[in-house]
Amino acid sequence: MKRFLAPFAAAIVAATACQSQDRTDYDWVKKGIDVSVSQLELTADRLRGTGMMPRSIWSGYDLDFLARQLEADPATFRDSLRKQPDAEMIGTLRTCGIYDWTSGFFPGSLWYAYELTGDGKLLADAKEYTSLLNPVREYEDTHDLGFMIGCSYGNALRLAPADTIKDVIIETADNLRERFDERTGCIRSWDFGHWNFPVIIDNMMNLELLFNASKLTGDDSYAKVALTHAATTMKNHFRPDFTCWHVVSYNDDGTVEMRETFQGKSHDSSWARGQAWAVYGYTVCFRETGDSTWLDFAQKIADMIMERVKTDDAVPYWDYDAPALDETPRDASAAAVTASAMLELSTYAKDGQKYFDYGEKILKSLSGERYLAKPGENEGFILRHSTGSLHHGSEIDVPLNYADYYYLEGLVRYMDLKGLEYADL
Ligand code: GLY
Repeated sequence: MKRFLAPFAAAIVAATACQSQDRTDYDWVKKGIDVSVSQLELTADRLRGTGMMPRSIWSGYDLDFLARQLEADPATFRDSLRKQPDAEMIGTLRTCGIYDWTSGFFPGSLWYAYELTGDGKLLADAKEYTSLLNPVREYEDTHDLGFMIGCSYGNALRLAPADTIKDVIIETADNLRERFDERTGCIRSWDFGHWNFPVIIDNMMNLELLFNASKLTGDDSYAKVALTHAATTMKNHFRPDFTCWHVVSYNDDGTVEMRETFQGKSHDSSWARGQAWAVYGYTVCFRETGDSTWLDFAQKIADMIMERVKTDDAVPYWDYDAPALDETPRDASAAAVTASAMLELSTYAKDGQKYFDYGEKILKSLSGERYLAKPGENEGFILRHSTGSLHHGSEIDVPLNYADYYYLEGLVRYMDLKGLEYADL
């Protein structure tokens, strides 16, 4: 079930697959897949009938620790802190409903695990959990629709196509497109906060849904909105060194109102997951258009990431500007998104091997002792050590459903590029 390789990637695949490697060289891949399958099945059985999805593990925070991480006076961020969970909740499974921005990742992980193994139970689970998201097709209050519906129904369409799935994707894309504003040239991200028209770098990840809607309908207006958003973001979100701000807010006339962070260390820092969303998003723009502007830009971001990472295993600290201390949390989710993007980028770039090597290095790290859960532990999640929003004291050094999703996507891409089948591992 090869899915993402463009024809011009064939040369790389052939070169990579031809390297005579021992099967034991891929023991880490098999272990990663096997742990993933058992964790996902455990969770699917545990949450069946509740209407809920797994999101993370409840965690608390220590104010002094946050201040050290942010190198800031606690008074400057105290107001933004999330309420501490009750003591008995800490360490337990945090679930979410279907309107949460992360609701598509668990069904999507089931689809990828099915794609990797062909396991019929995973297929049934993937269909069941994807169907729960059906009402999201009518939801208009977020830009995260690409995450929610693209990762769930988008993978369903690839792996078990049906007209009803197409309808969900098109209706959702209609709602996402409604959030586009001609004057700013952007899709509005959030409907909360002190900003006039906030756009966050994460929004680059929602564009794939629009590209898919254009392909399904033959109406290129969805793709045009996506590309206008990508171009405006390229112009206003990035610094000369190709790092990006998290939030750019626009005035009504389309000029920039302010550039800030919401989840990073400071307004001028480089939040790790934001950089990951960026390299992934511009790689998709190249895939969908073949326009080298996007490819060059994705490579610049990728090169910056490889230059800026401070950890030996390439799993970054939660912000590239966070203090390099033993106590500084990693963000396995940023690593997984980066790995998946770099593997795809490696198939387009002339000097793609360095991106392939970096993606492989991350996947190997994530499949090792430090990050990969032991079956039955980690509240059913696959990976440990991600960070949701340290700035808010939320989801610090915990599993996150999107870390698991992009890890599995990375494994699918890796297997494709290496010409590997699960049965041969
Ligand atoms: N899109 C929200 C986040 O990356 O945390």
